Amino acid sequence: MLYIGVDLGTSAVKLLLMDGEGKIQNIVSKEYPLYFPNPGWSEQKPEDWYTQVMEGIKELIRDADKSQVAGISFGGQMHGLVILDEKDEVIRPAILWNDGRTTEECDYLNNVIGKEKLSEYTANISFTGFTAPKILWVKNKEPENFARIKKIMLPKDYIAYKLSGVHCTDVSDASGMLIFDVKNRCWSKEMCEICGITEDQLAKVYESYEAVGTLLPAVAKELGIPESCKVVAGAGDNAAAAVGTGTVGDGNCNISLGTSGTIFISSEKFGVDKFNALHAFAHADGHYHLMGCMLSAASCNKWWMDEIIGTKDYGAQQKAIEKLGENHVYFLPYLMGERSPINDPLARGTFIGLTMDSTRADMTQAVLEGVAFALRDSFEVAKALGINIERTKICGGGAKSPLWKKMIANILNVKVDVIESEEGPALGGAMLAAVACGEFAGVEDAAAKIVKIVDTVEPEAGLVEKYEARYQQFKEIYPACKELFRKIQ
Ligand code: XUL
Repeated sequence: MLYIGVDLGTSAVKLLLMDGEGKIQNIVSKEYPLYFPNPGWSEQKPEDWYTQVMEGIKELIRDADKSQVAGISFGGQMHGLVILDEKDEVIRPAILWNDGRTTEECDYLNNVIGKEKLSEYTANISFTGFTAPKILWVKNKEPENFARIKKIMLPKDYIAYKLSGVHCTDVSDASGMLIFDVKNRCWSKEMCEICGITEDQLAKVYESYEAVGTLLPAVAKELGIPESCKVVAGAGDNAAAAVGTGTVGDGNCNISLGTSGTIFISSEKFGVDKFNALHAFAHADGHYHLMGCMLSAASCNKWWMDEIIGTKDYGAQQKAIEKLGENHVYFLPYLMGERSPINDPLARGTFIGLTMDSTRADMTQAVLEGVAFALRDSFEVAKALGINIERTKICGGGAKSPLWKKMIANILNVKVDVIESEEGPALGGAMLAAVACGEFAGVEDAAAKIVKIVDTVEPEAGLVEKYEARYQQFKEIYPACKELFRKIQ
């Protein structure tokens, strides 16, 4: 049988076709626009996602035996607010995970409702990108839209709805809404009340590997796929990526270098850190995970390459980098503000330490290193919780760079296991579909059979030492700039 994984990303949707043995048959990518209507705002049109998913699926299976497609599932950008009216029409553009407009609503949630209560109800506190503060923002700033809300959906769940007709979500993605009781894997009545919504405005919650239904007849006909094809709940992109990299079960780590940058630690037991610096979410394997998320990771390099230097040849720019561990230039990667662990929507990107002899290569290096240093900030929080991480998997666009992987291995002082396919969320989505169709006994079984480590990047003692000294300097830059970021808004 064949399985489709849909990774509904921020710049594009990636679609992957996998067979029953876990072999990738085809990959297709389709872009859609991203809108920044005000500084710090970030929106997309759900209709664009759906159009590109449908076009992408058609292209993906053009040469395949369509009668064999048995399941479709998802990894999706998390936290985005999609609101539907009583006709299931989209009310306004989706407000995305990296949107920073909800500072006032976050202050209300964290300081008036209080972090302790939020953590008790949901295992998390409020960050500007989370869904609950966005619901409050619509309530406060667009009351006419708020009054029309019949259903509140997450991005990938809107696609699952369009394909199956079922209003569904999964435990991992629901965890990032701040309306979900993560420990008990159900909606929080208290949070619904705080947000001024009722539970029937929310979708039905499934485990990531459960089928929510089958394809609607019209959709099946348009795609040429059997109506019996299962639509499977899927996961938030980080949990799906963790499935796709085999980061399941207890104490395993995955780093994702996509538009966002995340450190993801799987755990068999539910747990929350005292300061809620890391997100405590349900995992797609039926258990839990902790996660640190930075808002701009590979997107910093993309910005630097595409917008500033004006090249598409990222590899050529990285070849000019020679002095690992010895750069005098530093870069703060806060181009969209930052979430973990500093939680500061007003933080901004910054180069510091430039001199007359600084080169373009030094600045490119600083961008790559700045992202790795900021990931280490979240890594340090995990270490402070007593979590011992000796090795990690890696995925996302940035993971294609051998140089960046080397920096990560040495800046975090961990072994970086390189896997055969770094497709992350799209592969994880296809694996979840295969599990729901009975191809594997469960998510951990699928990961054990499909994911293969092909190489390991080892940290080198001398370089680790040099980077340790540089990280200690990096750590001082944000606190020194913090007040200035407020003044220059
Ligand atoms: C996770 C997060 C991002 C998005 C990116 O909390 O906000 O990783 O899921 O798609």
